[in-house]
Amino acid sequence: MAIERTFAMLKPGVLSRRIAGEIISRIERKGFDIIGLKIMRITRELAEKHYAEHIGKPFFNELVAYITSSPVVAMVLEGDQAIKILRMMCGSTKPEEANPGTIRGDYAMHTNINIIHASDSPEAAAREISLFFKPEELMDWSDGNQHWI
Ligand code: PPS
Repeated sequence: MAIERTFAMLKPGVLSRRIAGEIISRIERKGFDIIGLKIMRITRELAEKHYAEHIGKPFFNELVAYITSSPVVAMVLEGDQAIKILRMMCGSTKPEEANPGTIRGDYAMHTNINIIHASDSPEAAAREISLFFKPEELMDWSDGNQHWI
């Protein structure tokens, strides 16, 4: 087992569409432990730090404008191979390439509003978790079901 933590964000629009619960439910049913969860409005400063690797790309300003446009749901998830498995559940960045059954494949139509972000590496996960959560906001818990998931 390789227990990992990953960062996930339900992007603007998810709360307005009333689908946050459905998406979080999929994540729970898969077997992730939700160890951090909050609704927040992202400042421009935080958005620029979070997406620093994309500074200079043609879509950067649009990306920052979108992510700061209304509240998001930020989460820290824990589980065996959490980073890879959550990325698989999200599907391809471009919704037209995301398979049905993935979150983007089922709920998104456009790359620029593709509804969920998930860390793509252990380094990114550690960086993003520390950007969005204080250590005391993360809860370690165990329900005894780990053996089955
Ligand atoms: S890259 O250039 O391949 O590294 O970019 P990519 O991994 O495809 O996407 C990085 C994040 O930018 C978002 N994105 C966009 N936003 C707005 N407009 C356009 N055209 C666009 N293209 C990509 C994409 O959804 C990724 O956001 P996250 O939050 O990481 O999913």
